[in-house]
Amino acid sequence: MDDPKKIKCSLSFGSNLALIFLFLMGTTILYLSIWSPSYSLTNFPFFPFQREQLQPCQLPNSTAVEARQDKLELALAKASMENKTVIIAVVNRAYVDQDVKADTTMLDIFLDSFWLGEDTKKLVDHLLLVAVDQTAYDRCRFLRLNCFRLETDGVDFGGEKTFMSQDFIKMMWRRTLFLLEILKRGYSFIFTDMDVMWLRNPFERLSKNETEDLQISTDLFFGDPWKEDQFINTGFYYIRSNIKTIALFGKWYSMRDNSTGQKEQDVLRGLIKGGIIGRLGLNVRCLDTLYFSGFCQDSKDFRAVTTVHANCCKSITAKVTDLRAVLRDWKRFKEITSHKQFTIVNATETFRWTGHWRCWNSWSTGNKTKV
Ligand SMILES: *[C@@H]1O[C@H](CO)[C@@H](O)[C@H](O)[C@H]1NC(C)=O
Ligand SMILES: *[C@@H]1O[C@H](CO)[C@@H](O)[C@H](O)[C@H]1NC(C)=O
Ligand SMILES: *[C@@H]1O[C@H](CO)[C@@H](O)[C@H](O)[C@H]1NC(C)=O
Ligand SMILES: *[C@@H]1O[C@H](CO)[C@@H](O)[C@H](O)[C@H]1NC(C)=O
Ligand SMILES: *[C@@H]1O[C@H](CO)[C@@H](O)[C@H](O)[C@H]1NC(C)=O
Ligand SMILES: *[C@@H]1O[C@H](CO)[C@@H](O)[C@H](O)[C@H]1NC(C)=O
Repeated sequence: MDDPKKIKCSLSFGSNLALIFLFLMGTTILYLSIWSPSYSLTNFPFFPFQREQLQPCQLPNSTAVEARQDKLELALAKASMENKTVIIAVVNRAYVDQDVKADTTMLDIFLDSFWLGEDTKKLVDHLLLVAVDQTAYDRCRFLRLNCFRLETDGVDFGGEKTFMSQDFIKMMWRRTLFLLEILKRGYSFIFTDMDVMWLRNPFERLSKNETEDLQISTDLFFGDPWKEDQFINTGFYYIRSNIKTIALFGKWYSMRDNSTGQKEQDVLRGLIKGGIIGRLGLNVRCLDTLYFSGFCQDSKDFRAVTTVHANCCKSITAKVTDLRAVLRDWKRFKEITSHKQFTIVNATETFRWTGHWRCWNSWSTGNKTKV
């Protein structure tokens, strides 16, 4: 995957001579020492295309350069913030199809949250929807969002997947491989499941400390963000692209054939339990449910809540019902706090979420489930 970028970067210097030269020399080290004086070999010896190195490529000038950029690169560049950060969500038909009895879809509720949230509207510009089937892609394009069609040979990822079915697991692994690819291209990202409501701008709450490689949500938070044996949840996390996180995702993906019957999230938990964080020198922060909450553990404070994930829930219809209740609660909270009366201040402290009844009951009824 290095080659297209090497070509692209070289061409943007407008000299075929440079291109040939680079290929002849063939050594990445020399390449780096020429174009990237700031590059430190001790930092990322195997990953030449870090943020700084990519700078010259971000403004492709000639059509030749553009032709060589593949679709993913274009999609990422379009959705990216200046600091090479994107928001990634994976969408399939089950999230965009409205059946006869439904009034809305998961995708619509997800987008509603960006509209109703505080300081979240602008983030839609940086959201890249990764469609795993044609219907999802069409819907995404119809809504004029940033869309990328993830092709997979031989598998129809369209329908709602029964929890832990073969296709469900296959899709999860395809997703992991795709995310690895994004990291390799030097993009950091927030990954969000579509059943996560964005009520406030998470970038305001996430640590800006560059040494933190991965900040990941939890089902239950016990107070110590650095403890390793926690119930991490891969439904929402912020990951920085670097050699260590690429190694983590590479290892994670390499486990796919050795982990029959396990969801990729459980495989990651297993890797962490096995000490991969220490081995790779990763800095992983578990996110407090006070801010990054879910149905497993509600945020205790409406004034702090940033995201709400419909975790601990088994079907899409249950999620849709209970997430709509979350948005209603949120609107009620905003309505009350918009009146500047002091007595209200106490009301906000005691503001409570509506019970997630459909989700709580979803475990006892039927098999249909999340994707
Ligand atoms: C690059 O683009 C800028 C503005 O689009 C133009 O002024 C400049 O001449 C271009 N350079 C080359 C080498 O094409
Ligand atoms: C990237 O830029 C966005 C928008 O300016 C900002 O909110 C975010 O904190 C930045 N991310 C990092 C890691 O600096
Ligand atoms: C970032 O985190 C590292 C390691 O946890 C710490 O040593 C450093 O002081 C932090 N930097 C800032 C600016 O907080
Ligand atoms: C895969 O599983 C086998 C048997 O359980 C084990 O011996 C092997 O180390 C595993 N491979 C990896 C890469 O973990
Ligand atoms: C707010 O609640 C605190 C206790 O939590 C109480 O002491 C205080 O009097 C309350 N203020 C008002 C304005 O009700
Ligand atoms: C649950 O799944 C099993 C096997 O996958 C199936 O036989 C059963 O009918 C399903 N039950 C419901 C209520 O869908």
